[in-house]
Amino acid sequence: MPRCDPKHLLNTLSIVLGNEAAKQELKWMQQAIHPKSVTLQDMVARRVRGEPLQYILGTQPFGPLTLFTRPPVLIPRPETEHWSLTLADRLRPSPQKPISLLDLCTGSACIPLLLCHLSPPGSINACGVDISQDAISLARDNAAHCRIPLPEESSTPSTAESPLRNTFLPLLADIRSPDFLNSASLRRRLPFDVITSNPPYIPRADYDRLSPSVKDYEDIRALLGDPDPEIPSNNGLTFYHDIAKLLPDLLADDGLVAVEVGEGQAADVRWIFEQEGGLVDTEIWTDPWEKERVVLGHKKPQGSSKA
Ligand SMILES: C[S@@+](CC[C@H](N)C(=O)[O-])C[C@H]1O[C@@H](n2cnc3c(N)ncnc32)[C@H](O)[C@@H]1O
Repeated sequence: MPRCDPKHLLNTLSIVLGNEAAKQELKWMQQAIHPKSVTLQDMVARRVRGEPLQYILGTQPFGPLTLFTRPPVLIPRPETEHWSLTLADRLRPSPQKPISLLDLCTGSACIPLLLCHLSPPGSINACGVDISQDAISLARDNAAHCRIPLPEESSTPSTAESPLRNTFLPLLADIRSPDFLNSASLRRRLPFDVITSNPPYIPRADYDRLSPSVKDYEDIRALLGDPDPEIPSNNGLTFYHDIAKLLPDLLADDGLVAVEVGEGQAADVRWIFEQEGGLVDTEIWTDPWEKERVVLGHKKPQGSSKA
């Protein structure tokens, strides 16, 4: 029997994934085959070696969007999809009251692109920042694929032929650098009405225990919450302290912040945002698996006496 026989491939995959998952994944792989570039046999071999399915297929659904996935950029997760959909429902901007949005640690740009896609045309101008060139290239490709233009492309006044559009600008930058706020592209857009982020948050001890299918394929910079080797443990919270310190400069009065957090981190992040970022009216959202997953808060309006 030839080794590329689908039954043989199904058996090979079943040993690693179990019968049901193997059947489903093989179906997706068959649908994703591009005749010249890859064979089903190669796909199965990669999967058996532990490569994430989404890198093999090259795409991942995110709400109504289909986003490109390429190693080592983090594959968008279902919990991020869930809260981004909820946030789109909460924000509801309009062309009469458009908002500016900054997504810190944007990766594939899944969060801002979903918000742009779900909001009326001309209601969001988004910007996504990442330290990784791979992430910024993928974010740019995803924006083009989702038909969300760069702001330059839509800067001409809208006419019947060129209607209002939501826009997305990917920016390569290190949000932890002391120069971050000096970037000209960022400065001219300050302050933002909404800041979103799914920053790296995995504590080092947990990172060491991650499965090889995550650690061997996804960028360590996308996962590790305490990246400074000289500070081995900050419970994965380093980025939240950094983001809180940036808020006075980045966020407009009464602006909204929404960040994803790891398991058991919500109360600490709420405290960091209130004490170090000066946020008020903070909230915690749970994910569909009953885990506290998102911390939200508002910047106190100037002159307000809110504690
Ligand atoms: C957990 S991933 C999130 C990606 C995407 N937002 C998502 O939800 O799928 C974190 C991202 O932060 C980026 N990152 C890590 N350190 C950074 C830094 N100092 N400045 C900007 N981005 C950073 C990584 O490259 C990675 O893309």
